[in-house]
Amino acid sequence: MTTIKQLSDHQDEIVTLKGWLYNIRSSKAIHFLEVRDGSGLCQAIVAADDVSDKVFEAAGTLKQESSLEITGKVVKDDRSIGGYELHATDLKIVQIAENYPITPKEHGIEFLMNNRHLWLRSRRQWAAMRVRNEIVFAIHTFFQGRGFMQLDSPIFTGNAAEGSTTLFETDYFEEKAYLAQTGQLYGEAMAMAHGLIYTFGPTFRAEKSKTRRHLTEFWMIEPEMAYYDLEMNMDLAEDMIKAIVKTVLEKCDDELDILERNTSVLEKVAVQPFERMTYSQAVEKLISDETASMLDKMAEERKQELEDITKESEEIKKEHGSAKKWRKTQIDQRIKEISVRIDQIEEDLRNIPSWKESARNFEWGNDFGGSDETVLMMQFDVPLIVTHWPAEIKAFYMKRDETDKLALGMDILAPEGYGEIVGGSQREDDLATLEKRINEEGLEKEVFEWYLDLRRYGSVPHSGYGLGLERTVAWICGLTHVRETIPFPRMLGRLRP
Ligand code: 4AD
Ligand code: MG
Repeated sequence: MTTIKQLSDHQDEIVTLKGWLYNIRSSKAIHFLEVRDGSGLCQAIVAADDVSDKVFEAAGTLKQESSLEITGKVVKDDRSIGGYELHATDLKIVQIAENYPITPKEHGIEFLMNNRHLWLRSRRQWAAMRVRNEIVFAIHTFFQGRGFMQLDSPIFTGNAAEGSTTLFETDYFEEKAYLAQTGQLYGEAMAMAHGLIYTFGPTFRAEKSKTRRHLTEFWMIEPEMAYYDLEMNMDLAEDMIKAIVKTVLEKCDDELDILERNTSVLEKVAVQPFERMTYSQAVEKLISDETASMLDKMAEERKQELEDITKESEEIKKEHGSAKKWRKTQIDQRIKEISVRIDQIEEDLRNIPSWKESARNFEWGNDFGGSDETVLMMQFDVPLIVTHWPAEIKAFYMKRDETDKLALGMDILAPEGYGEIVGGSQREDDLATLEKRINEEGLEKEVFEWYLDLRRYGSVPHSGYGLGLERTVAWICGLTHVRETIPFPRMLGRLRP
């Protein structure tokens, strides 16, 4: 058995592919099969002249997603998907599929989400999952290459670390337990044992809001480093993101192509220094005239684009009636694209006035909302690291600056409007200060005793951060919603499949 990914090593040889039928077009003497096998997609040509009558007839009965084994000669053809096609000599049907619910026509998002177990086979979804895999591998490679240990933190926990509002409570043999919102506190203990560690695991937050960046179950990568200050923390995170982006650019060009990702920004991110500013500077930028006029300009551009593609859509719809079959398929595809884009533009046009208002009236001391991050990050081509946050809006464990007003936290916001993908900080390492903080926040001191021990026995300056995997995948793939970045997303109102 050969895989589609390996076809380039088998030019002019006879190979057998085992896979599924993605699509079929037929003329009198030829069936054009688009076959997928998990590793890729390729066109197989079943010509009446090259196969037995029985095989030719059988090919004509295939329906979308039927499983099959196909044997044939590998022929180089630059116009073909993947650069190679298969000239079939034999075909074995494994199963003729029932009528497949996801057809090449347009489907609504609820329908697709309800069929997520099948939707995963579609090309864009397939490509996004492959990028996710590459990102995961790049993260491990990055940390392992720098001498970090990967260690796991527990999922059942006895305390909240990121505020109590988003806890999932469970019954742990008649005791209350919470699903971990973060592995950080345990990561700190492990860093005191091993110096440099990272956790890589699922985290849970009862997020009651339906947004394009919130899941209730998401994967977080949390490095924790003994003897690192805020500056070193930022440098590490920047290097890590660059390494991830570089790897994806190197290894996933087919996938990025399928996702129609404009890679020019990613290429910049891979090499250019990230922007860095304090929270106060970021607020200034957000409320500036510059930001307001950027939004005005954006609204104008969107209106123009809407006009242009509406016109295009009308024209090709007219052409459709008399078009040849291949052209009809092309037009259907384009109409589908246009309709998705129109939805996006209309959403932007609805949003822009409130974005503008929210940015304009932003008050120092508040946390950035999703739209504030979007507006800020539409103005950057590389990630922005925001430091020195108002202590009140950040977690109890963050170290503060000399004024005691600002937390030595750092968030990294992704460009192109994506917003926060990393949250981190230098940690408070002084016992008395941390005890005071826990007291002020009304946290139960007893459950944090073990954490306080880390400040009793050889406390050192240390830092760490958490990278949200799904938000990172969304940004790198250019996806508008995190629901397409994880095989089976869990969100408000979504528990199945
Ligand atoms: O900023 P957060 O809350 O930071 C922490 O949990 C720290 N304890 C991390 C640390 O210092 N070790 O979350 C970190 C990242 C966010 O920047 C975001 O990318 C992601 O986790 N994240 C979510 N992703 C998807 N859905 C959600 N509901 C998320 N909440 C946070
Ligand atoms: Mg955060």
